[in-house]
Amino acid sequence: MPRLKHCYTQKDIEALARKRLPWGMWEFLYGGADDEWCLTNNRRAFEHYELMPRACVDVSNIDLTTSVMGMDLEWPVMLSPTGMNRMYHGSGEIGAARAALKTGTVYSLSTYSSYSIEQVAETNPGNKIFQLFINPGIERSFELIDRAKISGYQALCLTVDTTASPNKERDYKTGIAFGGVTPKSLLSILAHPRWIYGLVTGGSLQLANLGISPLEADKFQWKHATQLNWELVKKIRDHWQGPFALKGLLNPEDAITARQIGVDGIIISNHGGRQMDGVPAPVSLIREFVDATNNEVDIIIDSGIRRGSDVIKALALGAKACMIGRPYLYGLAAAGEAGATKAIDILKAELLRDMTLLGLTAINDISPQTIRTGPNQG
Ligand SMILES: Cc1cc2nc3c(=O)[nH]c(=O)nc-3n(C[C@H](O)[C@H](O)[C@H](O)COP(=O)(O)O)c2cc1C
Repeated sequence: MPRLKHCYTQKDIEALARKRLPWGMWEFLYGGADDEWCLTNNRRAFEHYELMPRACVDVSNIDLTTSVMGMDLEWPVMLSPTGMNRMYHGSGEIGAARAALKTGTVYSLSTYSSYSIEQVAETNPGNKIFQLFINPGIERSFELIDRAKISGYQALCLTVDTTASPNKERDYKTGIAFGGVTPKSLLSILAHPRWIYGLVTGGSLQLANLGISPLEADKFQWKHATQLNWELVKKIRDHWQGPFALKGLLNPEDAITARQIGVDGIIISNHGGRQMDGVPAPVSLIREFVDATNNEVDIIIDSGIRRGSDVIKALALGAKACMIGRPYLYGLAAAGEAGATKAIDILKAELLRDMTLLGLTAINDISPQTIRTGPNQG
């Protein structure tokens, strides 16, 4: 059986995660919507840009620090919010939040977390973002915002790309889409006793912030989300008062409205290809978003970031930071906190190495001249 110490790359960690997870969990984690075109294109889109190194620059000292939405970052990568982390490892969000702290990364906690706002805040006193879904209802959403404020989360992000349950076709085969298991996925669960142990020792699986089981969430899940409008976004923004971002915008026209209502950040995201298939890869939208917001809103991207060079390309196009989702979840599934830490560390080491090889000594050195459009542009 391969182990974490034999993992040198994100792909190695991904392969180990696949072995450690029952089939259904793996398919849910890895999969995308419809034909999974976005899932593939999120990676391919980075190939449109080539890096342009400068030679003979003294790169003996490199400063990766930056700031995003008023938060000081040790390096320009943050963790994307992901729900129900205990499905991947018993340590769940606690393991991921600890890994974030160890690697100097900002952690984002999902509304649909399996450990609560308060439990995660206790474990990670560093910079944290709380991610809000309005699916549980407007009143409850405002309660969640207040809890995040009291618990010391620095920023709030509202996810806006989940107005319908996604069509993730792998999940029909495993039974997850129907809230159950097929005989084949049950057999796979039984073949993963270590995973079962991790799950059962943590008590019953709950949406910890709401105190209900994941199956109950389906009752309210989509009704409220379909009612989200700009007026409500403004109310949420005003209620929170602190640094506020929208996550899941893909149209620069919406960025103009977002700026008008006073957002501090926009996370361009296609949810890692898990919601609407056929939409653009976020990296290809950065320039348009920077222009639409007059460079006054911090632009962040996620979806498909796997390499240090991806981060440099995104920043050269005008992003302030990037976020990763699956990579740290693969790490968590592979080996809990240590696995998530390793996945994030590999990315950080790559970023540092790439900065060195490109002759860049600080994040501010990354400019449009750091890249050019390559022959693969379609
Ligand atoms: C298993 C899983 C659960 C997710 N849950 C949430 C969530 O609760 N809230 C949210 O805003 N985004 C959620 N996302 C989307 C991520 O925040 C992020 O946009 C996406 O993972 C980025 O793409 P990447 O996985 O290619 O890095 C989830 C993603 C995954 C893979």
